[in-house]
Amino acid sequence: MKLKIIHTALAPNAGWSDLARSLHLLMPWQWPRLRRGPHLARLEEHMKKRVGAELTVAVGSGREALQMALAALPIPPGSIILVQSFTCMVVINAIRWAGHRPLFVDIDPSYNLDPADLENKIRAHCGTGIDSGVSPGCAAVIVQHTFGIPARMRRIGEICRNNGLYIVEDCAHALGAVSESGNPGEVAQVGAAGDISIFSFGRSKVISAVNGGLVAVNNPALAGPVRLAAEMLQPAARGRTVQNLLHIPVTSLAKTFYWSPLGKLVMLVSQKLHLINLEVTPAEKQSRRPHYFISRLPNAMARLALAQLAKLDRFNLSRRKAAQYYFDHLSVAAGPDPSAHPGAIFLRYPLQVANPRQVLLQAKKQGVILGDWYSVPVAPCDVDASKTGYVPGSCPHCESANARMINLPTHPALTTADLRRIVKIINQYAEN
Ligand SMILES: Cc1ncc(COP(=O)(O)O)c(C=O)c1O
Repeated sequence: MKLKIIHTALAPNAGWSDLARSLHLLMPWQWPRLRRGPHLARLEEHMKKRVGAELTVAVGSGREALQMALAALPIPPGSIILVQSFTCMVVINAIRWAGHRPLFVDIDPSYNLDPADLENKIRAHCGTGIDSGVSPGCAAVIVQHTFGIPARMRRIGEICRNNGLYIVEDCAHALGAVSESGNPGEVAQVGAAGDISIFSFGRSKVISAVNGGLVAVNNPALAGPVRLAAEMLQPAARGRTVQNLLHIPVTSLAKTFYWSPLGKLVMLVSQKLHLINLEVTPAEKQSRRPHYFISRLPNAMARLALAQLAKLDRFNLSRRKAAQYYFDHLSVAAGPDPSAHPGAIFLRYPLQVANPRQVLLQAKKQGVILGDWYSVPVAPCDVDASKTGYVPGSCPHCESANARMINLPTHPALTTADLRRIVKIINQYAEN
């Protein structure tokens, strides 16, 4: 009997309607509207209302959005941007390509920026100490809501205000999550508290347009520079747009045959022929700037994003249910308790085990492809570590989590039987 393969990555949100929409958008009579059309403005308007932002600008990817957000800050070139070390290379590239330098901060048990270490790092590297209100060199903090678990915005906000640091909220994993607001007892959509925030509509994110991102400006002083930068941008090239549209058909085909060598062959050949693009390119892993620069989100990608946004609440509810199932049924290793994170959406369910490699391997043998965000500081594991700027030993909690991490899928296509199968594998092979 064919084994049903369960994926954590590989376009996990894409359903039949997304496949049909991609194929429809590839039809020749749609070509005049591939890059420009009405959907971009609709998406920006939707996101503006959702976040309550002053301005939203949709661009080619989350990493482009981050670079654009950092470039809009009125800070001198070479400024220090504080960022958690439990992150992805594309975040660090965005800092560098905006002309700045990363300074790494450790994580707390929710895999987000640890406010205590943020204060330590400011004290040690930003000159005159946190009470003086002066932070020479340090200009901004990127606050990431990892796995869709909201960071401690109120405390981080206080620290940033006391030190004159801008907050750039990285909501790439967290669209639809709700975090504590600046006012005690109040909550707000993630992305509402930063001076400027970014979202991703990438293939493995909360909603997927295969590639896509958005800048949301909350601080009115930053709206001018972002508006100006947006006016200069062109939609992504037609070739890249077609690649993006081919992604769902190709991965759907590959997933159908993933139980046999044919599935992997489909992926490999499509990548080699550049029919589809990679999530993180070899150049990005080496911190080499790719040939494309920041672009506007093409109309076709905005169309896919809007269709997925309509399903956001259902997606996130089902993610929370999956997280609750794992929390209730895993006996060997404990992940986060959803009731302790009422605003989290759990893009993936993070778990620490003593033998992550063995668990990933055994799960794969049984048709379950788990995730490994993030098995090194500044992932993925094959980046050129010398280009990250991370100093080994500077974030011990991150490093200890890296050595033990696995992620379980939570995407909306999972059935209870799938969840049961995953739990059985983890309970059988994971060691504490
Ligand atoms: C934490 C974080 N921020 C930003 C991004 C960038 O998003 P995108 O893949 O849309 O460029 C990613 C994705 O890899 C991410 O993991």
